[in-house]
Amino acid sequence: MRSTVNHVLSVAQFERPFLFELFRRADELATLGAREAVGTAKGAIMATLFYEPSTRTRLSFEAAMTRLGGAVISAEYAAATSSAAKGESIEDTARVVAGYADLLVIRHPEAGSVARAASVVDVPVINAGDGANEHPTQALIDLYTIWRELGRIDGLTIALVGDLRYGRAARSLARLLTQTVDTTVFLVAPPVTRMAPDVVNELRAAGLRVEETDDLYAIAPTLDVLYQTRIQRERFSDAESYTQACGHYVVNRELMQHLPSEAIVLHPLPRVGEIDPAVDDDRRAAYFRQARNGVALRMALIEWMLQRRPAEVVSSNGHHRR
Ligand code: NCD
Repeated sequence: MRSTVNHVLSVAQFERPFLFELFRRADELATLGAREAVGTAKGAIMATLFYEPSTRTRLSFEAAMTRLGGAVISAEYAAATSSAAKGESIEDTARVVAGYADLLVIRHPEAGSVARAASVVDVPVINAGDGANEHPTQALIDLYTIWRELGRIDGLTIALVGDLRYGRAARSLARLLTQTVDTTVFLVAPPVTRMAPDVVNELRAAGLRVEETDDLYAIAPTLDVLYQTRIQRERFSDAESYTQACGHYVVNRELMQHLPSEAIVLHPLPRVGEIDPAVDDDRRAAYFRQARNGVALRMALIEWMLQRRPAEVVSSNGHHRR
């Protein structure tokens, strides 16, 4: 990190050693009981500014901060209830709130907006989703979940399925996979929501095998990870192309029969029909465990951002102790 402030704006800033350090610390924090005090964020205040709906991201950030002994102030419906409704720019809002808090977590519908906010403040800023661009902390949770569930992040075959065009979680995860080795990525999307060519090129340049396909059943038996996503209705300009994008790829019991017994199914959630709830009981359905992992991972991240990481932790060879 060049800046002395530890912002989290894009997955492009993360490299392998940092990832393993973060995952190990998250594991450590996850093993502490819910009531066990951590205290590494004691005295610090996190402000969450959400200009778009959220359940998991905001609440797990707030839970993480609370567990670390810090406090939270929140503009939950910032578009309607903050001064944005009066026309205030995100830069001005960030400048002001940075005077009240030690850490800002911002979700905003416009790509690049959170980076703009970060550029005018001197407290760390987390991008909790900027339009269709990035959702870096979700990608960290996704890769952390893969590491926990499968014991490794290398040598895997991963399918990204659904809305790869507007889905910032899939986009960030794809870009984060450039830090893995010997990885095969299948991109499975309807024509209207294909992954942007710049991301595909970035993955290939990083040495990943990337293949676009429309036959999920054909590749299912080769997968270690099936990453399903929601078609991002709110990002479509017309109802017709949204309808065209829906219903192509559904994870149901039939598809599960084609997946290897050790594979996992992930989804950043919320789901709206692309995973049949009948699959939830299958032990390979890891999406609720993934959501739960958000708290520990975000705790580890907050410690790093506040530079409150206990000195004794860290360093690893990347293998998960199981
Ligand atoms: C995602 C998001 O908001 O980008 N949700 C999340 O943060 N877990 C995915 C989505 O909304 O489909």
